[in-house]
Amino acid sequence: MTKRPYRKVRSFVNRPGRLTNAQRRALNQLFPRWGIDFGAPIDMRDLFNRETTRVLDIGFGDGEALLTLAANNPTIDYLGIEVHEPGVGHLLLLLEKAGITNVRIIQHDAVEVISDMLLDCQFDAVNLFFPDPWPKKRHHKRRLIQPAFINDVSRILKANGLLHITTDWDNYAEHIRETLKKNGLFSLINEDKSLPLMCRPPTKFERRGKKLGHNVTDFYFCLK
Ligand SMILES: C[S@@+](CC[C@H](N)C(=O)[O-])C[C@H]1O[C@@H](n2cnc3c(N)ncnc32)[C@H](O)[C@@H]1O
Repeated sequence: MTKRPYRKVRSFVNRPGRLTNAQRRALNQLFPRWGIDFGAPIDMRDLFNRETTRVLDIGFGDGEALLTLAANNPTIDYLGIEVHEPGVGHLLLLLEKAGITNVRIIQHDAVEVISDMLLDCQFDAVNLFFPDPWPKKRHHKRRLIQPAFINDVSRILKANGLLHITTDWDNYAEHIRETLKKNGLFSLINEDKSLPLMCRPPTKFERRGKKLGHNVTDFYFCLK
């Protein structure tokens, strides 16, 4: 556990966001089933009551990709973190409809969740699909991928754990490559679609990026 408020600049802005009635109901009625309040440290083993492969999804957005992964891989346990309330409500509805049991959700800043709540060596993979690119130079400090954040991610990964980062912004891809290279704890490895941990379903922001003609880059970093 690293209790250090190393980052006051947040990687998101608090958008009020309109909740549908169904999402509001989901947040009230379904959160107790799938959600975890921000607070005390959690042991993933106790959460799911089993010892298995575990994946953390940071910034799951509307949760459609996380739902697909969890449904396709019932023997893997997933923890999703997202700040945007309508996205959390949307995923709760999907989880209820599909009767999913291998997902838990935390609605809070992932930087604080990782530093305050997640124990060492808990995850086989961490997914960061299309983190907000903050393309303007003066906003680069808001990017989630920062040296201290990568150190914290490395702490919660098991040995040889996988960090899968995807972006549709070439400038952010360059930043990711450089930050991970300087960090030195990870090796960049090739994609292997035969491994479930390397499979990524299409996401909403991927579709958006492709419509804009953006190039999509998937990075697979293995903890040394
Ligand atoms: C560009 S969207 C991508 C969503 C999804 N992964 C996808 O590919 O469709 C980035 C998401 O990350 C969330 N986010 C940004 N910073 C976050 C943080 N510090 N903690 C948790 N979620 C965060 C945003 O609310 C947003 O939903």
